[in-house]
Amino acid sequence: MIEVMRFSQSMHDDVKEILITAESIAERTAQLGKQITQDYADKNLFVVCILKGAAIFTADLYRHVEIPATVDFMAISSYGDRTKSSGVVRISKDLDVNIEGKDVLIIEDIIDSGLTLSYLLDNLRSRHPASLRTCVLLDKPERREVDIAVDYTGFTIPDQFVVGYGLDYAQRYRNLPYIGVLKPEVYA
Ligand code: IMP
Ligand code: MG
Repeated sequence: MIEVMRFSQSMHDDVKEILITAESIAERTAQLGKQITQDYADKNLFVVCILKGAAIFTADLYRHVEIPATVDFMAISSYGDRTKSSGVVRISKDLDVNIEGKDVLIIEDIIDSGLTLSYLLDNLRSRHPASLRTCVLLDKPERREVDIAVDYTGFTIPDQFVVGYGLDYAQRYRNLPYIGVLKPEVYA
């Protein structure tokens, strides 16, 4: 118990600023779920969660989708440094089933350069889904390198490295309930 409290204390201490509160995330996620429920009312929705970053967002969003919908997971790892994507992506866990003829919605934590999502779109499009759309919790448009149409966006944020609600720095801070910016000394 003491161990847990100590860890949680230091985790919040590493945060310089809360950019998006847990309450705002919950409110926006409910809105997106409602929108997706309407848009996919007569479709064959197949949700693809991109691990690990989108796991928490997907868990919340999926429960606001009030139509029969399947969820599956894909894990990818990108080569590059820890705060910037190289766009060179490797699939370390693929979907369990064929998505041909399904209405696929990719759920990602964040779109930054757009290279990761661009790779995923090309990869999944080649499997002939009936439709293919994207939903991201966060969008950093200033850093875009490829032109990508994101269909559902939670929040647009400035060019800052963020953690929490699934997003990590060196695999940590995913369990913060809000989206925050770390203190510069954390990266040192
Ligand atoms: P992109 O390929 O540059 O669009 O980057 C997308 C991926 O980079 C995301 O799925 C994240 O894993 C990671 N990423 C980009 N920006 C951030 C950030 O601010 N915090 C944490 N991860 C990030
Ligand atoms: Mg990610």
